[in-house]
Amino acid sequence: MIEKYAVIGNPISHSKSPLIHAMFAKQTHQDISYEAIEAPLDGFAATIERLRSEGYRGCNITVPFKFEAFNCATELSERARAAQAVNTLCFEGEKIIGDNTDGAGLVRDIEHNLGVTLKAKRVLLMGAGGASYGVVLPLLTAGAAITIANRTTSKAVELSMKFTGTSIRGGSYEDLSEQRFDVVINATSAGLTDSAVPLPDGIFAPGALAYDMMYGRETPFMAFARAQGAQVADGLGMLVEQAAVAFTIWRGVRPETATVIAALRK
Ligand code: ATR
Repeated sequence: MIEKYAVIGNPISHSKSPLIHAMFAKQTHQDISYEAIEAPLDGFAATIERLRSEGYRGCNITVPFKFEAFNCATELSERARAAQAVNTLCFEGEKIIGDNTDGAGLVRDIEHNLGVTLKAKRVLLMGAGGASYGVVLPLLTAGAAITIANRTTSKAVELSMKFTGTSIRGGSYEDLSEQRFDVVINATSAGLTDSAVPLPDGIFAPGALAYDMMYGRETPFMAFARAQGAQVADGLGMLVEQAAVAFTIWRGVRPETATVIAALRK
């Protein structure tokens, strides 16, 4: 019998998740369906109840419902708790198990696909919104030393304080002058408005990786990083890798991602 999954968001028509999961399912011979569902802005909980009553096995959650998904879960993984957001739900009887695979997807893309080991690396994470919350714990677990910079400095400090005792601090962009980083990650929404992030020249250590979580176009951050001589990557690999982690949680089999990333790039 076909087992049903979905991605829930609003809007959702642009989502590549159905295509990605269809490729995973074909490749691993899993008999599943995966559709995109637009929930009304005030109708997330009702949509989850409908899917459960119709026998769906799980779903992915995207903007703007990741926090509501966090609240509706009856059990949470440690990384979902750290993220304060959920992008993957499993329905098991009465249980609604919430996880967050975004950070694991980012780490996998950086380390496995781009060949950059994070252990003991100086990582600059720009932004202190939902995208940053989603990735801090997995980056720390990979052994990175993290500096968070944010336009509103207090939010960077607040995020860093959630992980006291570990290798992390938060501050402003002005604090960055004279500092060098091996990996610089853009988790701000600045690229959406074609705005630049206020980085000083010389922020990239030799051979540094500049990673933008956005995909689909060159952001001002990516252009800046290229001009500064950094290796540049967009967030398409992260998108596919976070989906692969979710698929593995649901199906117990890990799909191969390189061909899926290559197909989406075309
Ligand atoms: P998301 O869930 O995508 O992270 P968000 O919670 O609205 O969205 O957070 C957006 C992040 O991008 C914030 O860290 C924001 O900085 P502020 O906290 O100071 O608002 C950051 N951001 C947005 N536009 C920016 C810009 N033009 N320059 C620098 N940072 C920007």
